[in-house]
Amino acid sequence: MTSDHKRKSINGKPLRPESMMMRYGYDPHLSEGAIKPPIFQTSTFAFRTAEEGKAFFELAYGLRDREPGEKLGLIYSRLNNPDLEVLEDRMTLWDDGDDAAVFDSGMAAITTSLFTFVRPGDVLFYSEPVYGGTHHFIQHVLSEFGVTAIAIPSGVPLAGVEGALRKEVGGRRVAAALIETPANPTNALVDIEAVSTFVHSFATDDHCPCVMIDNTFLGPLWQHPLKHGADLVLYSATKFIGGHSDVIAGIAVGGAECMAQIKGMRTFLGTMAGPWTGWLLMRSLETLKMRMTAQMKNAQYVSDFLADHPKVEKVNYLGMIKQGDPMYEVYRKQCASPGSLISFVIRGEEKAAFEFLNALQLVHLAVSLGGTESLAEHPASMTHAGYDADYKTKLGIVPGLVRLSVGVEHFSDIIEDLTQAFDAIS
Ligand SMILES: Cc1ncc(COP(=O)(O)O)c(C=O)c1O
Repeated sequence: MTSDHKRKSINGKPLRPESMMMRYGYDPHLSEGAIKPPIFQTSTFAFRTAEEGKAFFELAYGLRDREPGEKLGLIYSRLNNPDLEVLEDRMTLWDDGDDAAVFDSGMAAITTSLFTFVRPGDVLFYSEPVYGGTHHFIQHVLSEFGVTAIAIPSGVPLAGVEGALRKEVGGRRVAAALIETPANPTNALVDIEAVSTFVHSFATDDHCPCVMIDNTFLGPLWQHPLKHGADLVLYSATKFIGGHSDVIAGIAVGGAECMAQIKGMRTFLGTMAGPWTGWLLMRSLETLKMRMTAQMKNAQYVSDFLADHPKVEKVNYLGMIKQGDPMYEVYRKQCASPGSLISFVIRGEEKAAFEFLNALQLVHLAVSLGGTESLAEHPASMTHAGYDADYKTKLGIVPGLVRLSVGVEHFSDIIEDLTQAFDAIS
């Protein structure tokens, strides 16, 4: 029977994740009845007996199998901590994973997961474009460890490029794929189901490549990659999950086997988050659905405004993908909403984009996204500055491109601010 603090249904009717964000995974009676988990600000945990300590370490180091129902006891906060454990339990609910792991940044989640699966001589598929930090790590760090990265273009059907990609692999071991969909900053999509089938086709008798989806832009509310064949979901929890631009964190969610390997690597790289970060994220999760819903509704008004503005050349917003576009069916299949990230090209190149950004009064000029406040930035010179010029042009990261993360303000006030900023372009 499910214990009360892990209740997932009432009268046999499943509870929705948003209804479980305040209770799931936490037993108040283990903490003096406090209805909110305290911050367990401790580096280490006392064992009742030496035998207990030995038993915990046997499990932690995989020296024996678990007894039925046996849980890993608390040892040391680089391995586990109650604030992270409760948060990890809650994070499994949105994506329907077996387990989750919290990290001290989105990049820590990405790099730890990559180091778990790739080895020298392997091939890694990745989608392009990806967040600039991820791109740097793949191109400039993994390459030095002898990993060959092969790019999968986003925004086009996989069928058209599959043959060429297979040829490029040339018989090497395919370790994993890291796919960012929608892509930062262009909102270009990759078909998760098609890419998972393709990458898994490189499985051998003793190895199956891990398909990882960076779900930062739409998840955990509007896209659930595990349902479409992916093995692992990655987040910069700094964005929507944290949601208030006051914490840096990352999360991975996936199947039991995959997560056990990732947690093992996290222990030795030491990339887990601390208890205070875990506590902040739990607090944020309680309002996640409300925030993401309000932001998505605002973004629809803002994208309509941008599409009609004479100084805007192009709007990249998932809500504007038209029937007949090859990505329309992909959007319908895997996205439950267009979300709240918009990028748009201002006529007049970098000069006009900078005049616009410098004139904003309500929207902050800052990188990052997914917080309660609206943020705007210039990808070509900021988040994606590390890409070379031709590559940026090829991917649509042009000098006039501005990325806007729509917040929870009144949509009319956001539009008023954008209007006066467009008027400031000379
Ligand atoms: C899509 C995406 N993935 C990963 C990251 C990295 O996350 P963090 O800054 O939390 O390390 C970012 C950061 O902007 C991002 O936009």
